[in-house]
Amino acid sequence: MPPPDPAPDAVPPLRVGVFDSGVGGLSVLKDLREVLPGAQLLYVADSAWAPYGERSEAEILMRSEAISRFLRFQQVDVLVVACNTATAAAVHHLRAIWPDWPIVGVEPGLKPAAAATRNGRIGVLATEATLRSGKFQKLMADHGQDLQLTLQACPGLAAAIEAGDLDAPAVLELVERYCAPLRTQGVDTVVLGCTHYPFVVHHIAHALGPQVRIIDTSRAVAQRALALSEPFLAIRTATPDGPARLWTTSEAAMLQAIATRWLPFPAQVRALDA
Ligand code: DGL
Repeated sequence: MPPPDPAPDAVPPLRVGVFDSGVGGLSVLKDLREVLPGAQLLYVADSAWAPYGERSEAEILMRSEAISRFLRFQQVDVLVVACNTATAAAVHHLRAIWPDWPIVGVEPGLKPAAAATRNGRIGVLATEATLRSGKFQKLMADHGQDLQLTLQACPGLAAAIEAGDLDAPAVLELVERYCAPLRTQGVDTVVLGCTHYPFVVHHIAHALGPQVRIIDTSRAVAQRALALSEPFLAIRTATPDGPARLWTTSEAAMLQAIATRWLPFPAQVRALDA
């Protein structure tokens, strides 16, 4: 028997599309689920192209546009670029080609860090591409004046997290390597400038010591997505929590295993050829 037709007055739920170079943006997806419980969440992990942080700006831009185009085709109302590196390289471009589409980006939380620091010494952990971007230079000019900033690129760390074992010796070794210079500089506040890093925040906190405050902007990003969703919430239904729909440009089984371990809600994963 064919499935019943949808009720004539059925209204689709709010759709929020999210992407990252890989699994890092799942840290933002968790907050989105809490802040927008009735929304249908769609997520793309561009894991075949991860890490973005070690790619050229032109490559990051090209991949960000391809993935965003896919999510637009899926009719998402609001797009969340859950990747500092893609935001730095591509968010201006995405907003220029789709001026009607609400797009939320992610940037290292220098502003909240400047408000939180007591000794004026702040560390930033991020990808190489984020730290060298014009967008980050502007962020430093706007919020980093009169502060002593220690910028620490973390090559290899996103890729090690992407492998799925958060307690692997390679992960611990990289966390220690990148936190050591921040300890030496006596920072009292550290910004997680990459969405992969919240998954190892316990290791980072251990390496930095209890006196160091860690800034993660995932919740603020989800709140911004909520604000941009307000006009759609008025015309869309709130649906009961269904599974999030995830795609990966790499192996679906790998992402399914990670999503099952790292997300506190169910997710359906499919492969994406994009
Ligand atoms: N999760 C991404 C970010 O927030 C980058 C990781 C990568 O290098 O792909 O910057």
